[in-house]
Amino acid sequence: MATVIEVGLSETQRQIVDLTREFARTRIEPQAAEWDRTRHFARDVIDELGRLGFLGMTVPEEYGGMGLDTITYLLALEELAAADAGVAVTVGVHSAIPATMLLRHGTAAQKERWLRPMASGERLCGFALSEPDAGSDAAALRTRAVRDGDQWVLSGTKAWATNGGTADLMVVIARSERGICAFIVPTDAPGYRPGKPEDKMGLRASNTVAITFEEVRLAAQHLLGEEAMGFGYAMEALDVGRLGVATQAVGIARRALEHSVAYCGERKQFDRPIREFQAVQFKLADMATRVEAARALAHAAAARKDRGEDITQHASMAKLFASETAMWVTTQAVQLFGGYGYMRDFPVEKLFRDAKVTEIYEGTSEIQRLIIARELYPRAE
Ligand code: CAA
Repeated sequence: MATVIEVGLSETQRQIVDLTREFARTRIEPQAAEWDRTRHFARDVIDELGRLGFLGMTVPEEYGGMGLDTITYLLALEELAAADAGVAVTVGVHSAIPATMLLRHGTAAQKERWLRPMASGERLCGFALSEPDAGSDAAALRTRAVRDGDQWVLSGTKAWATNGGTADLMVVIARSERGICAFIVPTDAPGYRPGKPEDKMGLRASNTVAITFEEVRLAAQHLLGEEAMGFGYAMEALDVGRLGVATQAVGIARRALEHSVAYCGERKQFDRPIREFQAVQFKLADMATRVEAARALAHAAAARKDRGEDITQHASMAKLFASETAMWVTTQAVQLFGGYGYMRDFPVEKLFRDAKVTEIYEGTSEIQRLIIARELYPRAE
């Protein structure tokens, strides 16, 4: 079927795609519907992915990672997302945001202490930026970081933190008297209090919680990089995170297309498979075209990243286009399945629910448009 990227892959990419697809087929897909129904976070499966190296795909080999380029990472993430987007986001947040921040701004000691076990899969990491009153306006965050001798004391509340109740470490963005900072917080630190897992519309196999920080004390070396530089670090890492969300959206959309192609070939109405009707063909053609375009945009932005170029605008373009594609394609898929598409027994209903959040988290579609538009003007204006 021409819905899966199959041509132009290097030998390494081919192997990674095959390995991920096989893992997804045997370890994720058979359980995805049950995890969705019961909101089960499959730590055993995440740990297995870690042992296979999937939690350190883009981390350089010197820190125990696979040292893969960004497109290869996205190819693997697409396979995970096509099987279950909740698993993909668990891996994607860990891989893109905290790992990027540590790699770019961590000291040598911080990389040894935290990046290495993250890359080997021994430590799962999450990210806590948003707060109940600081979503799109991320810089309005109020979680406080107060210096007390040679320690930092964190107090406040975070919202919708991915992996917050299941991770071993969190990168937490908080405000000191000098500005916004990033901290590496072990989740067993006294005063770290995750709420109960949120009851979400989709991505139900991923863990999302509010977190209360009740005077969490951290040694000075838990400050990531420099004081007051944390907002820029977070924004820079979100550029990479947004490529992951774009790819997650591609995986969801691709799987909805694959189910639709199969179903429309089998489903008969008026004595013929519905794929023979032009109205159905046109829908499938538009779905396939948009999936290809979304993937191409994400891979083009990934290639820019690997050339060392700024990707802020292109990551936002990829995320915007892919997430709206996922929502559109899954809506068409539900329509093609008709009454069956509205039933939980059929797979496209879950894909439709999983798609929605890609238009919301790591910056809403509105925020992506704002970023794209402002990058069209010189910084001085
Ligand atoms: N790379 C590097 N630095 C950046 C940057 C980038 N992409 N974007 C901004 N910065 C820097 C700026 O250069 C500026 O630095 P100086 O102060 O030194 O000049 C600083 O950050 C502030 O930038 P802005 O003035 O642009 O900040 P702003 O307050 O206007 O906000 C925004 C910009 C784009 C709206 C930003 O708030 C934003 O992206 N909002 C969306 C928030 C978001 O994506 N949240 C995701 C939550 S996390 C999540 O969903 C992950 C998960 O768990 C699934």
